[in-house]
Amino acid sequence: MVLDLADLIARIATDMASRKDRGRPADYIPELAKTSPDQFGIAIATVDGQMMVGGDADIGFSIQSISKVFALTLALGKVGDQLWDRVGREPSGNAFNSITQLEHEHGIPRNPFINAGAIVVADVNLGGHQPRVAIGEMLRFVHYLSGDDSIAINEGVAASETATGFRNMALANYMRAFGNVRHPVDLVLGSYFHQCAIEMSCRQLALAGRYLMLDGRHPDGGRVVSPRRARRINALMLTCGHYDASGDFAFRVGIPGKSGVGGGILAIVPGRASIAVWSPGLNENGNSMLGTQALEMLAEETGWSVFRG
Ligand code: DON
Repeated sequence: MVLDLADLIARIATDMASRKDRGRPADYIPELAKTSPDQFGIAIATVDGQMMVGGDADIGFSIQSISKVFALTLALGKVGDQLWDRVGREPSGNAFNSITQLEHEHGIPRNPFINAGAIVVADVNLGGHQPRVAIGEMLRFVHYLSGDDSIAINEGVAASETATGFRNMALANYMRAFGNVRHPVDLVLGSYFHQCAIEMSCRQLALAGRYLMLDGRHPDGGRVVSPRRARRINALMLTCGHYDASGDFAFRVGIPGKSGVGGGILAIVPGRASIAVWSPGLNENGNSMLGTQALEMLAEETGWSVFRG
């Protein structure tokens, strides 16, 4: 049977619109709590250059932790495998903002996608500059990946997190005590909070993720990362991209994915598709409830999986 992707996307969007249990938007960042959980969007960029969308695919949302994928890509470009002296590559089995492992593991975060790991990555990306330089570099990178210069930072969200991000301040200060954060904490967090506050639509996010379905190539032919690095970033998304629910996401969906507390998920089917879903209501692990369900339905009906030959 030939896969009718446009029809499937329409069915997923209709199904998600009818769901009653939609989770709750994050409220520990006050600005995010204002988002209505009624929204759902999906966008799929396919390897043959098509773009298919459903629902609220053109509404911008806070990409939050999904930015950690782009930040990791930049940091690996700057320091290469030396990054792994300062950040691990193991699933944490803990919440995204947990501090408990850091003491036993001497200030080395388990992986680059939990908050502690992403703060070290932000420290690397700062590279002795002011936050606005690192933030500018990150925005330019996302513009290049998506081919869309209109993507911007929501300053209200960044300010909201700067005012309330006490756990991240604790994590950063704790790692500074171990020497694993090297710049002043306020500069590192200034950069980190702004990267999290980048606003993108599902369409823009699916476009930005294409290098990860294309073995590290930009669709215009340029190389973003080597094929090996693209495989490794995808591996980290699969094993660590949903925090203590990463195993469940691999079990239910079976493709690399990175979630954010804004309710977005970027998911990659290597060699086939770059997918973005968004719905602001979160499940108990801080991942989009409907976004996960939509990806499960998509994987089930397409057969897309990294565990299938
Ligand atoms: O640092 C934080 O807590 C947020 N800026 C990002 C956390 C996040 O998106 C976790 N994802 N599910």
